[in-house]
Amino acid sequence: MTWESCYRGDGVPRGVKLPEPPPWRTFPRRPLGTAFQPPEGLTDAVNAALCLRRPLLVTGAPGAGKSTLIESVAAELQLGRVLRWHVTSRSTLAEALYRYDVLGRIHAQQLARGSGRSHGSLPRRFYRASNSAIDIAPFLQLGPLGTALLPTSRPRALLIDEIDKSDLDLPSDLLDVLERGAFEIPELARYDRDAVNVREWGGDTRHAIVRGQVACTEFPFIVMTSNGERDFPAPFLRRCVRFAMPEPTVDMTGRIVAAHLGAAAGSQAVADLVSEFVTRVRTGENLAVDQLLSVVFLLAGDGAAKGEQRDRIRRLVMRELSRV
Ligand SMILES: Nc1ncnc2c1ncn2[C@@H]1O[C@H](COP(=O)(O)OP(=O)(O)OP(=O)(O)O)[C@@H](O)[C@H]1O
Ligand SMILES: [Mg+2]
Repeated sequence: MTWESCYRGDGVPRGVKLPEPPPWRTFPRRPLGTAFQPPEGLTDAVNAALCLRRPLLVTGAPGAGKSTLIESVAAELQLGRVLRWHVTSRSTLAEALYRYDVLGRIHAQQLARGSGRSHGSLPRRFYRASNSAIDIAPFLQLGPLGTALLPTSRPRALLIDEIDKSDLDLPSDLLDVLERGAFEIPELARYDRDAVNVREWGGDTRHAIVRGQVACTEFPFIVMTSNGERDFPAPFLRRCVRFAMPEPTVDMTGRIVAAHLGAAAGSQAVADLVSEFVTRVRTGENLAVDQLLSVVFLLAGDGAAKGEQRDRIRRLVMRELSRV
């Protein structure tokens, strides 16, 4: 790949057409599951979690493939669209189950009253079919975990990403819901209508929830990821199947590069980059496999940079992650 037509720093305006992006950086994003190469032992861990109906807790270094694994399982076992819950220190169990916009509903009620018309000034979908009261359904949405626990004929796939970044209590809070595979939406349990259609996470599909009770019929396939930044309580760990992503080998890393870049990955130059990557990781450097994929993408092929520029690009992209 050459950059002659891109930024030169000469101040001359040019309507540039950028080179094609790497296959893993096309937008809208495509699932990467088909390119995933499971390291040794991971398929056993996945199958154990599937058979035991337990979550799989995957730990490993940044870029080890923890978040991508679930796409591979969901695609291969036809589990449908992956539900994603990206955990931060502010995440709560409640928001993963469902969200209720109580202020939005109060506001809608005020608008409806103010208009004084039988069907007020809001679109019809906000009103109850039987009268002009504001319906609760438009203001409720299931979260990723809540959606995963809906009754289905096939298990849903749920990624609980970076659970080690959560508030200390979250793993314990999760235990009860995962143990029972069920939860209640109190606002619907005391609502004056039995069945309410609630929107699922990340989609427009609605599901009838009866008297506020949600209970799965197939336990979801859940992958929880962690960079190992903290320990989890034993009661939480005992309910998971655990897998630590192993250190990369030359063979494994070569397969990952080939899976993403195909024929472009077949040269001696790429083999050298792979073996440099593996040696550096094994001697304790913090490098991610997607840095290797990026450098191979930039430096493979006939038109790629040569000589000093090549070295500069390699150093630029393959910088240790523990330093800025
Ligand atoms: N075993 C693998 N097979 C194929 N691709 C892989 C593999 N491991 C990592 N990758 C690729 O490396 C990139 C990073 O993977 P991913 O985001 O899953 O890592 P991660 O472990 O979740 O990292 P982080 O801890 O930073 O979130 C992705 O583009 C992914 O496709
Ligand atoms: Mg990740």
